[in-house]
Amino acid sequence: MTYAIEIESVTKDFPLPVRGRKLRAVDSLSLQVESNVIYGLLGPNGSGKSTTIKLLLGLLKTTEGRCLINGKSVYEPSIRNEVGYLPEAPYYYRFLTGIELVVYFARLQGIKKREALAQAENLLFRVGLEDAKDNRIGTYSKGMLQRVGLAQALVGDPSLLILDEPIAGVDPIGAVDIASLIRELKEQGKTILLCSHLLSQVEALCDRVAILESGRLLAEGPLDKLLVSEEEKTLSIKNLDTEDRERMVKTAISLGGQVSVSRISLETLYLQLIGEKQRKAKLEREDSDQ
Ligand SMILES: Nc1ncnc2c1ncn2[C@@H]1O[C@H](COP(=O)(O)OP(=O)(O)OP(=O)(O)O)[C@@H](O)[C@H]1O
Ligand SMILES: [Mg+2]
Repeated sequence: MTYAIEIESVTKDFPLPVRGRKLRAVDSLSLQVESNVIYGLLGPNGSGKSTTIKLLLGLLKTTEGRCLINGKSVYEPSIRNEVGYLPEAPYYYRFLTGIELVVYFARLQGIKKREALAQAENLLFRVGLEDAKDNRIGTYSKGMLQRVGLAQALVGDPSLLILDEPIAGVDPIGAVDIASLIRELKEQGKTILLCSHLLSQVEALCDRVAILESGRLLAEGPLDKLLVSEEEKTLSIKNLDTEDRERMVKTAISLGGQVSVSRISLETLYLQLIGEKQRKAKLEREDSDQ
């Protein structure tokens, strides 16, 4: 089976200004993303999400391991047309208008002038920028920049979209619009990898997530599995001790009944995993300071 994305034991070190020292931004990371899923890459600031994305795009070189897109090395030029990328902090030419910018990216992909203009009009409409398409990028608000960035990522109809915080800075209604656009893209058969700190939106949107911490994988899997809390089997029966409750569950199952298992929220899982790690690290720091 060919995965849309394969990250095989990838490590990325950045040299530090102190001689001989290095910062490990990604640490022995392995991930596989199937086609036609919405995949969330989560983790605290500095946990290696954007670095992983840049490695996937071939913008950075891995220190160890390799990344594949649609089964091919990310350094193969033909891969470029299969991937759309929304950077974390995009820098666009301020004096171009929205439509000029999207046309410019389409032309860079070798799309003919007339087709480039038609695509740009259509994409700016899809991201809700039709009224601002003739304004200069320099006058755009943060959310408008995100939207034009998304339009730019969709140029050429790529099968894989890599979106680094697509909803950051977008107002709540706009965030709903972008989420439904992402869902629409999935319905069209595309694969979407996204980073976001907005866990409730990730939970509503993603099929599967990976949670990184200090460049390492803390948890990975489909949300349906990750968010099922084994300890929280809730039956609406009161005044029973644990043993009797287990017996009730077993009896219900043996009678062919269905026992619903309650789900925790993605935010709860994240806070459990990351909060606990950060609390331990803080205690260790305090101990070593004393
Ligand atoms: N070009 C670089 N040179 C040196 N260090 C870097 C470079 N890029 C990233 N880093 C370091 O690598 C680590 C991971 O950074 P990265 O940008 O991947 O984090 P992130 O998970 O995307 O964080 P955020 O949620 O803040 O966007 C950080 O410690 C960062 O300082
Ligand atoms: Mg980042």
